[in-house]
Amino acid sequence: MISQEQNDSLTRVGPGSDAGAVLRLYWQPAALSDELMKARPVVPVRLLGEDLVLFRDQEGKLGLIQRACPHRGADLCFGRLEDNGLRCPFHGWHFDRSGQCVEQPGEPEGSRMHEQIKARSYPVVEKNGIVWAYMGPGDPPPFPNFDCFRAPDTHVFAFKGLWECNWLQAMEVGIDPAHASFLHRFLQDEDPKESYGKQFRDTAGNTEIPMTKLLRDYPRPEISVDDTDWGLRLTALRHMEDGRTHVRITNQIFPGAICIPMSREMTITQWHVPVDDTTCYWYSMFTSFTKPVDKALMREQRLKEHRLPDYAPLKNARNNYGYDENEQASTTYTGMGLDINVHDQWAVESMGRIQDRTEEHLGKTDVGIIRNRRRLRDAIAAVKAGELDRLPMRNGGTEALTGPVSNDTIATGGNWHAAAAEADVARRASCPWDASV
Ligand code: FES
Ligand SMILES: [Fe+2]
Repeated sequence: MISQEQNDSLTRVGPGSDAGAVLRLYWQPAALSDELMKARPVVPVRLLGEDLVLFRDQEGKLGLIQRACPHRGADLCFGRLEDNGLRCPFHGWHFDRSGQCVEQPGEPEGSRMHEQIKARSYPVVEKNGIVWAYMGPGDPPPFPNFDCFRAPDTHVFAFKGLWECNWLQAMEVGIDPAHASFLHRFLQDEDPKESYGKQFRDTAGNTEIPMTKLLRDYPRPEISVDDTDWGLRLTALRHMEDGRTHVRITNQIFPGAICIPMSREMTITQWHVPVDDTTCYWYSMFTSFTKPVDKALMREQRLKEHRLPDYAPLKNARNNYGYDENEQASTTYTGMGLDINVHDQWAVESMGRIQDRTEEHLGKTDVGIIRNRRRLRDAIAAVKAGELDRLPMRNGGTEALTGPVSNDTIATGGNWHAAAAEADVARRASCPWDASV
C-alpha cells in the first residue's frame, strides 16, 4: 500500500500534476484514424484533462487545437471546416491547424488583432491507424521502432475502448500476469481454431494445449521483472507436470502502455491514456507477423461490444457487466461472458474511479506493479529536477529499439529468455515485413 499523497501523485493527470507531467513527455494516442473517416473530419478529443478538437483540413493535414474558441469560449467542435481551417460559428473567427487565428470577419476592416490570437495547439502525427498527440514541452521524443509502428498498415489493426477509471489501474492489469489464470478462466476450452482475433484462445506456445487449459491448470506463475530501455520486461513461468515450462514474456512500455502476445500470429500493444483523472481509453494496435490482419473481422468483433462515437463498452457498471450467476457456475470465472476485455474492465472499474491504494495489500505476484510504480516515482522526481534524460526513451537511442519481444513458448531447459528469443526468431523470420530484432 502507498500513502494518499503518493496515490495522488501517481494517478492525477491534469496540467501541473506529477504523473501528468510525465505522460506529457510522450506521444499519446488521441483518436483512431477511423474516427476521421467521414465527410466532415472533426472530432472532440479530451486528453489529459484538456478539451480539444481534432480536424483534418483541406490539405489532408491534421490539427489539434483547444476546443473553446479563444474569442468567447464557444465550442469549436461545431466549427465550419472551411478555408483550410476551422471557423467558429459564433462570430466567424477562423483558425488554421496550428491554432493561429487568421481572420476575424466581424472586426473592423484592416484590424490586425488576429495576429495576437492563437488557440492552444499540439503536434499530431498519424501512425498505423492512430492519431498521436504530443502535449509536453520542447520537442517530442522519436517513436521507437517497435513492431506496431514498423509493420505496414496492412498488418496492424487499431481499436479503442472507454474505461471509467483512472489510467494507472487500467495499465496495472496489463502488468499483472497472475490474473489471467483466474479472471480470464474458461471452465471449458473452445476449439483454438476459432480463436482468430481473440486473446488467450490459441494453443500455448508450440503445443496442442489450449491456453485456456494451461492458465487454468497452472495458476501460480513464477514472475520476474527486468528493467529495459523502454520500461519493464515481465517473465511469467508456469512449470508443467511433464517437466516443461510455459514461458510468457510481456512488456511495459513506459509510461502507459503494454506489449503482450495475443496469439502465435499477433501481438497487442496497448496504451492506457487518460481522458482525465477518472476516465481513460485503451488503444490497442494488433500487429500481425505473417498474414495481413483481417481488419473487417476484427472491427466487427469489437463493434459488437462497443457503441459509437465514444467507443463505450455496451457491458458496463450500469448493467452489471452482463453478469450471469449460472454462467459463473458453469462456464466462466466471472460470469461476464467470453470477451476478456469485459473481465479486465470490470476488474479495474470495480476498484472505484481512482483505486484507493492506501487500502491494498500487494503480494509476490504484484512485482510488476511495484516495479512500475517505482519507475514512475523516479520519473516524477527526474521531471521535477529538470533531468529528462533520466526517463525511459527520452535519452537517445529510442529509434533503435525494436520488438519488444512478446510471446508464449514452451521451454525444456532453464534458459527461459533464450527459449523465448529462439521461438521469436522463427516467427519473425517468416514475416513479410522487416521484423528483425
Ligand atoms: S466565440 Fe468563437 S468567434 Fe466568437
Ligand atoms: Fe486481463
